[in-house]
Amino acid sequence: MPELGVNIDHIATLRQARMGIEPDPILAAAIAEKNGADQITIHLREDRRHIQDRDLQILRKTVQTRLNLEMAATDEMIETARKILPDTVTLVPEKREELTTEGGLFLTDKHEKLIRRLKEVGIEVSVFIEPDLELIKFSKKIGVDAVEIHTGKYANLIDETEIETEFVQIKNAANLVKKLGMRVVAGHGLNYENIQKLIKLDVIEEYNIGHSIISRAVFSGLAEAIKEMKRIIGDEN
Ligand code: PXP
Repeated sequence: MPELGVNIDHIATLRQARMGIEPDPILAAAIAEKNGADQITIHLREDRRHIQDRDLQILRKTVQTRLNLEMAATDEMIETARKILPDTVTLVPEKREELTTEGGLFLTDKHEKLIRRLKEVGIEVSVFIEPDLELIKFSKKIGVDAVEIHTGKYANLIDETEIETEFVQIKNAANLVKKLGMRVVAGHGLNYENIQKLIKLDVIEEYNIGHSIISRAVFSGLAEAIKEMKRIIGDEN
């Protein structure tokens, strides 16, 4: 059965909107784990726009499953990871002006040393890349343990023929990752509908999903939240 990594960045985004203390991503992680999440995924961005260093430090102590830290491939972030020791580091591209991670990481020889620095302290290294067969072969060559295939393009397409073309790319990419002996992961833009086609491939071992789960949680919880406030202000309806 594939595993689910729940990305809780959006909880932190909501908290940072008021620069306050709620909602706390630490509590979100505990709820996710209590309800079957196999992994907690967070992205510590260089501009700290959502997840903060404090979150990373506490989550390292409280997460009972696995902690997957998405981060830019910079020396500063590698040192942070070597100190905190998440179970997995997923190297992602990062641009300050983007709303969310756009496109996959373009791996080059310079990543080999960074990957080695993470692996020598026991961290599993995953890379977030496009479903590109050459990049997958290069990942294997530089010591990557897991490949997270970027599903953002697949998720955003509307035209059925284009969706099918991208789906075939993902399928070929996933099969190659598996054949080369790396763990097959997928993520970005996945929701309750578009994931179904991917599950049928029966090759992806882990999904990292954030936006659609947190969006759904708002509406599955909104009615109860309003009723609770009404009870407090004295209306028993
Ligand atoms: N995987 C990676 C590498 C990501 O950068 C993100 C977004 O932070 C996700 C998965 C989750 O994407 P979404 O929030 O669209 O489900």
